[in-house]
Amino acid sequence: MALSCIWLMFFFSLFGHGVLELIEAFHHVYLNVHQTAQYSTSGNQPYRTSYHFQPPNNWMNDPNGPMLRLGIYHLFYQYNPKAAVWGSNLIWGHSTSTDLVNWTPHDPAIYPSQQSDINGCWSGSATILPGGHPVILYTGIDPENRQVQNLAAPKNFSDPFLREWVKFKHNPLLTPNSKNKINATYFRDPSTAWLGSDGNWRVIIGSQKKERGLAILFKSNDFVHWEEAEKPLYSANKDTGMWECPDFYPVLFKSPLGIDTSSNGPDVRYVLKVSFFRTPHDYYMIGTYNPDKDIFIPDNGPFKDSSLRYDYGKFYASKTFFDDKYPLHRRILWGWVNESSSAIDDIKKGWSGVQAIPRSIWLDKSGKQLLQWPIKEIETLRGTQIELPYQVLSGGSVLEVSGLTAAQIDHSIVESFGAEGKACITARVYPTLAINDAEAHLYVFNNGTENIGITRLSAWSMKKAQIN
Ligand SMILES: *[C@@H]1O[C@H](CO)[C@@H](O)[C@H](O)[C@H]1NC(C)=O
Ligand SMILES: *[C@@H]1O[C@H](CO)[C@@H](O)[C@H](O)[C@H]1NC(C)=O
Ligand SMILES: *[C@@H]1O[C@H](CO)[C@@H](O)[C@H](O)[C@H]1NC(C)=O
Ligand SMILES: *[C@@H]1O[C@H](CO)[C@@H](O)[C@H](O)[C@H]1NC(C)=O
Repeated sequence: MALSCIWLMFFFSLFGHGVLELIEAFHHVYLNVHQTAQYSTSGNQPYRTSYHFQPPNNWMNDPNGPMLRLGIYHLFYQYNPKAAVWGSNLIWGHSTSTDLVNWTPHDPAIYPSQQSDINGCWSGSATILPGGHPVILYTGIDPENRQVQNLAAPKNFSDPFLREWVKFKHNPLLTPNSKNKINATYFRDPSTAWLGSDGNWRVIIGSQKKERGLAILFKSNDFVHWEEAEKPLYSANKDTGMWECPDFYPVLFKSPLGIDTSSNGPDVRYVLKVSFFRTPHDYYMIGTYNPDKDIFIPDNGPFKDSSLRYDYGKFYASKTFFDDKYPLHRRILWGWVNESSSAIDDIKKGWSGVQAIPRSIWLDKSGKQLLQWPIKEIETLRGTQIELPYQVLSGGSVLEVSGLTAAQIDHSIVESFGAEGKACITARVYPTLAINDAEAHLYVFNNGTENIGITRLSAWSMKKAQIN
């Protein structure tokens, strides 16, 4: 009761005379931004995907602000409205879905319109405030090309698609300065915020100091005024380079169910994920979170190149969100899968980057690592099935499975999940023969010398999802 009272007060303090007044319309409509999103790439496109998320054209990288609100999933993403290669002028593309499989595009949600983001709107996260009101914290690039943190909120909370976003009038909320000694080129990617039992919100932001990665912690009691905590939530003890896109969330011990980012309790363990800009890979650690000292204590720290990874292939700048769409309770992981082709090839095909299939993510029974599995909903796209019964594949032999067409693998991406989700490897592939309607073959190799028993082999053709 007391807690809901505090939440209510918080809500009014932010929205009563806060955000609604403070973010009053700024609205320059950048027509070229809107128009660019209308047309799609043309010509022969053997590598565009059928059920992996991608925009109609151009460059996409990090997933941003994923969330569920009123039964609708939102995915925002880093998008270059002008080219198929990265540029600092990134904006937030926006699509919505009711099943995480089929997606409807909307106009870009956040694009340069204030001094505090005039040179780019970079990554950030959504937080659902008490009362079900989402807000977004994101990194803006200001006129001096400094990285600063900004706040945005939906213009119309009654719009189920949250199509228009307005910005806090007094952005930026957080700046690098001589007092905090944060370097303005290393201050980005605010996480989803979580609420402590003291009523203060917490958020972490990626940084580095003297080549050591940092997840800098900030606290606020109104989501507007943020103070840097005495210590980072966690920092590297050696030269790791910049940490991007930090993600910090609770997982249940001995249950696959997900929980809200602000939950805590005796059966809760914590995951800290950071994206090492140098490698570039997503590493995570499992540990405990001391909410009084506001520090994360990993079971097997510190972070190193041999720390656990979400994925041992291409998968970067990932972000999770809590999905409690009735009757679900799960945590979903989104991750950007970069191309392996050259920038010249990307310009030629007119686009670059896809998102991995959203994955459920939870703690293994051992408590030592996370498990991941593609969301169940993706199975609704399954068509014709090929099923092989038990058989032995002798050492050095190859089993060929035919009857598939090339259009039925997802064209240029392969995601593999080994040992029931313990090891994931994502790869980009650009076939030259198995394209369009050509017949495709599935081969099972046993390159070892021992005979191997294949318990079962099932394969499905996949229908096309509606992607933007
Ligand atoms: C807000 O959205 C609702 C639902 O789409 C719509 O009926 C209403 O007219 C919108 N309000 C404004 C001010 O645009
Ligand atoms: C911040 O980092 C950049 C890039 O490494 C460096 O050139 C610059 O000198 C640093 N600024 C300060 C104030 O240390
Ligand atoms: C993305 O892939 C391209 C091509 O392989 C590579 O040059 C680039 O460094 C990659 N970027 C990241 C951030 O992974
Ligand atoms: C496994 O064997 C197949 C067929 O002989 C061959 O094409 C493939 O390159 C081999 N893979 C490895 C990893 O050696």
